[in-house]
Amino acid sequence: MPRAFLPVILLSLSMSTTAFSQAPSSIRIETHNNLLLLGVDTGHQLKQLYYGRQMADAVSSATTGEAAYPVYGTGHESREVALRLTHSDGNLTSRLVYVDHSVSRPDANTVLTTIHLKDSYYPVQVSLYYKAYTNEDVIEQWTEVRHQEKGPVTLFDFASAGLSFSSQSYYLNYFYGDWANEFNLIETPLTPGVKVIDSKLGVRVNQRSNPSFLLSLNGQLQEDGGEVIGGSLAWPGNWQLKFDVDDQKKLNVLCGINPYGSQYALPAGTVFRTPSLLYTYSPEGAGTVTRRFHRWARKYGILDGYGSRDVLLNNWEATYFDFDETKLTTIIQEAGKMGFELFLLDDGWFGNKYPRNNDDAGLGDWQVNKKKLPHGIPYLVKTCQENHLKFGIWIEPEMVNPRSELYEKHPDWVITAPNRDLSLQRNQLILDLSNPEVVEYVYSSIDKLLSENKGISYIKWDCNRYVTNPGSHYLGKDRQTHLFIDYPKALLQIMERVRKKFPETTMMVCSGGGGRIDYASLPYFQEYWPSDNTDAADRIRIQWGLGYFFPSIGLASHVSNIPNGFTGRTESLKFRFDVSLAAKLGMDLQPNQMNEADKQFSRNAIQTYKDIRDVVMHGDLYRLISPYSGNPSTYAGDRAALSYVSEDGARAIVFAYQMKKSITGNSIQLRLKGLDPKAGYTFKELNKGSYSRVKAYEGRRFSGEYLMTQGVVFDMYNDYESAVFQLTRQ
Ligand code: GLA
Repeated sequence: MPRAFLPVILLSLSMSTTAFSQAPSSIRIETHNNLLLLGVDTGHQLKQLYYGRQMADAVSSATTGEAAYPVYGTGHESREVALRLTHSDGNLTSRLVYVDHSVSRPDANTVLTTIHLKDSYYPVQVSLYYKAYTNEDVIEQWTEVRHQEKGPVTLFDFASAGLSFSSQSYYLNYFYGDWANEFNLIETPLTPGVKVIDSKLGVRVNQRSNPSFLLSLNGQLQEDGGEVIGGSLAWPGNWQLKFDVDDQKKLNVLCGINPYGSQYALPAGTVFRTPSLLYTYSPEGAGTVTRRFHRWARKYGILDGYGSRDVLLNNWEATYFDFDETKLTTIIQEAGKMGFELFLLDDGWFGNKYPRNNDDAGLGDWQVNKKKLPHGIPYLVKTCQENHLKFGIWIEPEMVNPRSELYEKHPDWVITAPNRDLSLQRNQLILDLSNPEVVEYVYSSIDKLLSENKGISYIKWDCNRYVTNPGSHYLGKDRQTHLFIDYPKALLQIMERVRKKFPETTMMVCSGGGGRIDYASLPYFQEYWPSDNTDAADRIRIQWGLGYFFPSIGLASHVSNIPNGFTGRTESLKFRFDVSLAAKLGMDLQPNQMNEADKQFSRNAIQTYKDIRDVVMHGDLYRLISPYSGNPSTYAGDRAALSYVSEDGARAIVFAYQMKKSITGNSIQLRLKGLDPKAGYTFKELNKGSYSRVKAYEGRRFSGEYLMTQGVVFDMYNDYESAVFQLTRQ
């Protein structure tokens, strides 16, 4: 589990550690299918000799190769570097030499290689950590810097990892978007020069992009072929992915905390630990990268990745701030009858002096609003229990409205620059987590809420703005640039404390949608909210993008009202369910506003989900038809399709969506993937609507080979039509 900035304590492992102090001809960082080969040259420099498919006999001489962790001052000045620091005497350069390395086995599946480097003159040590996850083919890499100089050493660049490549061409695939429009995938060729993808938002850092990338070598990204490197940075703060191509077409990739406005004065004896970069190499296209990341995530990257998730009803889009105990009671009673398992009370339940009746007041005052909820949270918990539901609640613990008791008491607790007007977003300010007193308040407000209200079994942890006007009352004038590093570090510590004290509480990470989805946060959360946009057609694309790196078990997808509040689109209830069934199902509707037919349809759909969720949550994702026209290998017009196949290949659930009206029916071949070619599979349509497009297949048995070569062919004509079917090995 990647945990940035926590002290590395490997004492328990030291017994199984093998140490090497003589310069080795090579250091193998390996998994089943990947090999990263490092070596030390005659000048004691650490080089990357090879990264790619596993090979017994890769090059083993360090006379060639690029610096494994390029630093400023060793001839790299004309290129981007991983580490750039100023020594306490003002010297701008570093020269790192190999000291020793060790290899340990934290468990049967992981091998940790630690390489110690030191400056050839100054008392500065840099340790590189490579944790290889054997079965999942993922390498996790991070770096630690420490020193014993007389004064502080100032860090200006501090990448987690540097990787180099030498190919004919490079295509970078990454994500862009904004609120309600997250996770758009875009591909661009890399040309000589530097391409930077980053976030400078401070918190809610992934609102416009995500620190994950797919780098395709020697051609455009393909789903089922071609060399691809997938990488994801585990860090909820400002991040940077840098791709530096030189005139010889050599590429250096540097990923880490964004150094923008963040120079860091490191006191002697303190460890600066970077976040982890997770990466894998696949010679079989993006599909393999995804399945490896998902398998890794279920085991190490998201909390309880092998468990199950409850079907929940959320009142946000159903009521917004306009609710009281009576209204909620009706919703809860209806939810119980429909087969939901959890009721989630969203924003608007708190604040008395400044009641939270809209978004301009109350944040920071985490006391139940007595007018709306006179009997408090225990009443709601009890009502849920009587209706066989668990109870969950929304919080936004890092934020404060100026109209709040908290702000009245502690105006100096917010992030803001002196001598400037307050800069509000959604009428709110961010609490300054670089200040330990504020950290304590934030932690204790969650602790109090959960400790004083037994029976809260779920928390939605939101974060609805990013940093503008940065400044901290606490940090003092010399350390203002620490804010963007100290904040996420403290945030992770709060998450960890909450998680330790309340191990049973399910938590969803949300940030005005998908603004905080990263592998440093997810080990503390079971679920994540990808987007406030609940329009099913838009969600196909958003969920598609997210699915490249993040597994469906946490991907919350809620059926909501029509016409959709964001897009105005009217889509059938079946279509809306079919999109959410492919993720972690929930609903944002008031059941009592539905007609009987829709209620019955929903009841059946929820039951269907309970029957298939094991495969959807734990199966391997196969992307079949891309909604992106930019991807020639899988784009097939106005359809999108994906499937989940259980790890043993016994069951597959297939989802097909028609994105746009097609008068010819668009009867394209839907070739399945990941099945056992020799086995027979029986076809069954799921979540049937009033008519069926796939009835020719119903109940019939086909070989896996047939399904993967001839495929399933059926028409869909209308906007927002869909079909879901199951294939069961028999
Ligand atoms: C954010 C979340 C929504 C909802 C609102 C409540 O926008 O993403 O799901 O919780 O806050 O204010």
